[in-house]
Amino acid sequence: MILAIESSCDDSSISITKIETLELVFHKKISQELEHSIYGGVVPELAARLHIEALPKILAECKDYLKDLKAVAVTNAPGLSVTLTEGVAMAKAISIALNIPIIAVNHLKGHIYSLFIEKKEIFPITVLLVSGGHTQIIEANSLNEMKLVARTLDDSFGESFDKVSKMLNLGYPGGPMIEKYAKNGDENRFDFPIPLSQSRRIEFSYSGLKNAVRLEIEKLERTTLEEQDIANISASFQKTAVLHIIQKLKKLFKQKAPKDFAIVGGASANLFLRKELETLCKKYDTRLHLSELKYCSDNAAMIGRVAVEQYKIGEFINLEDLDIKTRLKDY
Ligand code: KG4
Ligand code: ZN
Repeated sequence: MILAIESSCDDSSISITKIETLELVFHKKISQELEHSIYGGVVPELAARLHIEALPKILAECKDYLKDLKAVAVTNAPGLSVTLTEGVAMAKAISIALNIPIIAVNHLKGHIYSLFIEKKEIFPITVLLVSGGHTQIIEANSLNEMKLVARTLDDSFGESFDKVSKMLNLGYPGGPMIEKYAKNGDENRFDFPIPLSQSRRIEFSYSGLKNAVRLEIEKLERTTLEEQDIANISASFQKTAVLHIIQKLKKLFKQKAPKDFAIVGGASANLFLRKELETLCKKYDTRLHLSELKYCSDNAAMIGRVAVEQYKIGEFINLEDLDIKTRLKDY
């Protein structure tokens, strides 16, 4: 079995996966959304302090499995430096105490492997990763053959939901709140421009849309911002944010439609986005794969799933070489 640790942002999570059968025998996650909510976003130092409390608590529940561990895996990039450090420190301690090797896992590969928890891999597959930190399209051919084909030039999809939510005083994380309000709103009430719609390049940008929403809110606040205004802004913003992704994906599919396409990451829970992608995939006869809702946001099950593949090819890292990286340029 492999024990995997995830602490790249505001979720403390540990999983135990059987190497041979891929069975997830243990999985627990403690989220910190409530603690960060009042700040409208994740406060790194607070997150790190909460990991220090949560990770050992979860580990204590795994003690019966420790004797069966063949390796310990940990997310070491990308993420917040102070929070990654907590997971890495725990992994190093486990490695020394049990005399087992360490596997360093790329968090973004983790999101891709959230599709394959307790399942075989499917390759090649084109993946849309939408999270708080990333908006990317990746062509994945195998564990170590992944190519970034599109990314955001500024804010990410999830981050734009968080920022609009903060402007509307709806709290953090913004995605689920905006989605909830949007249900009662008129998506055509505000005509926000779709970002980069004139550009032929396949890339994303959310800072302009965020500013357009800010200006609209400022106009409304001169009177009073009513519940219905919040719903209408949420619906109009969500529609534009999603249509931006769909417009760019159409360009990609026109060039060469993939046989298998997937959407992963915390923001892939957005039902409006899922519905639009279903329509697109149907049109191009593309199979659409989704990770289970409980594995969309950050978790250690997906990190453990990648680690199984790394274990099989002996991809270990020396204790002294294990470092954290806050950013990764490519896969
Ligand atoms: O993958 P994740 O848990 O953490 C990162 O690695 O970033 O993603 C969290 C992000 C947050 O920005 C959150 O607002 C967004 O995903 N999110 C959503 C929805 N649920 C979560 N965005 C839009 N619609 C949702 N339903
Ligand atoms: Zn993530």
